Amino acid sequence: MAILEVKNLSKRFGDLEVLKDISFSVEKGQVVSIIGPSGSGKSTLLRCVNQLETADGGDITVDGLKMLTTENGKVVYAPKKTLREIRLKIGLVFQNFNLFPHKSVMQNIIEAPIHVLKKSKQEAVETAQGLLEKMGLTGKEKSYPCELSGGQQQRVSIARALALKPDILFFDEPTSALDPELTGEILKVIKELAEEKMTMVIVTHEMEFARDVSNHVIFMDGGFIVEEGDPSELFGNTQNERTKQFLKRFKGVQ
Ligand SMILES: Nc1ncnc2c1ncn2[C@@H]1O[C@H](COP(=O)(O)OP(=O)(O)O)[C@@H](O)[C@H]1O
Ligand SMILES: [Mg+2]
Repeated sequence: MAILEVKNLSKRFGDLEVLKDISFSVEKGQVVSIIGPSGSGKSTLLRCVNQLETADGGDITVDGLKMLTTENGKVVYAPKKTLREIRLKIGLVFQNFNLFPHKSVMQNIIEAPIHVLKKSKQEAVETAQGLLEKMGLTGKEKSYPCELSGGQQQRVSIARALALKPDILFFDEPTSALDPELTGEILKVIKELAEEKMTMVIVTHEMEFARDVSNHVIFMDGGFIVEEGDPSELFGNTQNERTKQFLKRFKGVQ
């Protein structure tokens, strides 16, 4: 069964149509990469699915729950309770980490499990310790974000997202703010999550990574999905002129 189903999604900012009739689905355990030039609507798509933007049309279903649907040309969102339930099923890791600067690493991770999931502090701390170990950050519990490298901060934000045990985890260009040598450590963590069959949707410009880690690739341009399919087909044998032109910029992946 699809864990996420997006149908005919549209979104505009004033006169600018940013998403035009976007349809795709994500199966449990699948790793989907979304590639495409800057301004093509990738972040807006993630923000609509994560309830950070309001869509103008279409249907979104998460784990069988209708998040929004369109009736007579008008978008109808699910009741607040359902939206909250859906929000807990989805995690998002941002390009710029978005950690609370005045909170320690541990406080950043346990905040939502305690206040949103109503976990006890002890349980939240134990979960956080396990996640920090997994992220190679044991010993950094008391550090503040400004004392960490960009790669370490991004690993903390991945741990923070995982602490809520999402059914599906979204990444919006998780390595774009990092130096090349720090990019590798984040890609490695995502690769490990993929091996554990974590369902993920990753917006990325790392084409080799997208080819190697994902089992489905979506190419967006100008608010449309131009092409989607198997990574070996899309990277190795695309027949689409627009996709070819875009991939030319990334030598070595074809
Ligand atoms: N809040 C906003 N208000 C107005 N325009 C926006 C807003 N957010 C994004 N846009 C515009 O929507 C288009 C798509 O942006 P975005 O989704 O960020 O693309 P991408 O992530 O692929 O670079 C761009 O033209 C951008 O300027
Ligand atoms: Mg973006």
